[in-house]
Amino acid sequence: MEIEDAIARYGVLVFKNQSLRNDEHIAFAIHFGEVEAEPVNTGRTRLTETKLNDISNLNADGSLMKADDRRRMFSLGNRLWHSDSSFKTVPASYSFLFAHVVPPHGGETEFADMRAAWDALPVDQRTRLTKLDAWHSLLYSRELLGFSDFNADERAKYAPVRHPMSRVHPISGRRSLFISSHIGRVEGMLVPEGKELIRDLMESATQREFVHSHSWSVGDLVMWDNRCTMHRGRPFDDQRHPRDLRRVTLVDASYGKTPQPTSIFASTA
Ligand code: OGA
Ligand code: MN
Repeated sequence: MEIEDAIARYGVLVFKNQSLRNDEHIAFAIHFGEVEAEPVNTGRTRLTETKLNDISNLNADGSLMKADDRRRMFSLGNRLWHSDSSFKTVPASYSFLFAHVVPPHGGETEFADMRAAWDALPVDQRTRLTKLDAWHSLLYSRELLGFSDFNADERAKYAPVRHPMSRVHPISGRRSLFISSHIGRVEGMLVPEGKELIRDLMESATQREFVHSHSWSVGDLVMWDNRCTMHRGRPFDDQRHPRDLRRVTLVDASYGKTPQPTSIFASTA
């Protein structure tokens, strides 16, 4: 299909001037796979459709969330580079983020190409990384920002999961670096060593030449592939302006099933 070919090549697609009700947004996404059973809304109740992630700064009554709102603390984690649902046992394939209301300034979403990031690494580092796994948790990314006020339910629900640090894409056949701010530990390494490695990789993987910044307009639908990109939200004045984005995310049905060639050399698309 045309869209699948395009996203396998580019990693991110933008559909301008769309008008989508929540059910239409979900119906579009379902063409590309199975929607994740459980969105991460951490206490939000604004959206009644169970398949939508609420990526807004709004309370259920439409007012702006207060600065110290616990739900806002969780949302601030989206401003760190990540791959959606990398903290789940089966991570995400595509995400579909649709803009209902956008602020007058800021609030862009940036995307970084993890295939380009991989190809740019020295061969010896690629060799090492093909053998490494990392532990991801939603709580690790929140801890990075200094928020660690988690209850027992959250600690149980977001227990760390283990994933390889690189992966081969099922359609393009290209290898990507698989990192995310949800990583808190690298298997077989001391915590500080692992964190230092992740910071170093983050820095090289998000050089400006690998990054596209999307400035939102109402009606934009942005689709990205979490298997080969990272993204982050940029700041905006969320105490003065509403920003209402909603996201549908799919389960990566191919996870763990793609043959992982032992060669660390970049494979061709
Ligand atoms: C997301 C996300 C960033 C943003 O929806 O998954 O990380 O710009 N959003 O809101
Ligand atoms: Mn995200």
